[in-house]
Amino acid sequence: MRVRDAVLAELLQKRGQYLSGEELAASLSVSRNAVWKAIGQLRSEGYSIEAVTNRGYRLTGGDVLSREGIRRYLQTPEVDVHVYSSTGSTNTLLKVWAEDGCSEGTTAVAEEQTAGRGRRGRNFYSPRGTGLYLSILLRPQSSAEAALAITTAAAVAAAEAIESLSGEEAQIKWVNDIYLRGKKVCGILTEASLDVESGSLRYAIVGIGINVLRPAGGFPDELQDIAGAIFDDCSLPDLRCRLTAALLDRFFARYRDLGSDECFEAYRRRCLVLGRRVTILSDGIAIGEGTALELERDYSLRIRCDDGTEQLLNSGEVSVLP
Ligand code: BTN
Repeated sequence: MRVRDAVLAELLQKRGQYLSGEELAASLSVSRNAVWKAIGQLRSEGYSIEAVTNRGYRLTGGDVLSREGIRRYLQTPEVDVHVYSSTGSTNTLLKVWAEDGCSEGTTAVAEEQTAGRGRRGRNFYSPRGTGLYLSILLRPQSSAEAALAITTAAAVAAAEAIESLSGEEAQIKWVNDIYLRGKKVCGILTEASLDVESGSLRYAIVGIGINVLRPAGGFPDELQDIAGAIFDDCSLPDLRCRLTAALLDRFFARYRDLGSDECFEAYRRRCLVLGRRVTILSDGIAIGEGTALELERDYSLRIRCDDGTEQLLNSGEVSVLP
């Protein structure tokens, strides 16, 4: 383990207590100079570490994503988390790892994405320090149809994790955007590789992006009306590490029970569009209007169109009319 990681693990474990440089050095079998350097590095990453003469170092705050911080709260042993300060896209990164043979449960988390990707070729705004951007590698023993069940399980898990930290009710806009107080706070991009001969999934990557805190200067103009954040500012220590762990724990609980009635009910209960007037979109273009009547058991959406016909949507998008 790197000295930086070991020092961080000690500080996190004894959060709020002072740990002398000497104590840290002895327990990690490194020099005091190495501890001092690790403290400097952690501070440069955003951790608030107080240093008091004759008492030592104390972690006082800083909502920084770290492997150690996430593992403190994580209860799912099969998850192997890797945290990056910056990457283009965690989904793109995981695709490379998947092709290299990495195992199910491998998860990439980033503080920032410089080329975050959304559905339908859109960009996903991924600023540093205020969001959570993560991708999970899965190797399900199932057919391509399982991809929809994986996406909907991720939507339920994200809604539950957000609720567990905010105490507020989250809603799911079909098929997999999470809304809080009328604004989108989370998007999900599931990508899969198919074995053409057998029609089974070689692997799937579930990418989840959450706006945890409001970015310092607010959201860019084009997102202001749509995007929201779970919190205005950070009040809970390790907020994003806790959220990551809650999300992964809930997702894997749902994934083990993929396609369950319980997950369907949890989704349906939060389904924002039911009973509402919607515009049906295909590739971002409006192709009709109607009322969302019901969510079918395979997660397709039944719409009564304004021309009197009924449509069953199993892909595409809808937007809710005011
Ligand atoms: C959407 O709302 O259109 C889906 C957004 C998905 C964003 C996440 S952030 C982590 C992962 N990496 C990406 O590049 N995209 C997904």
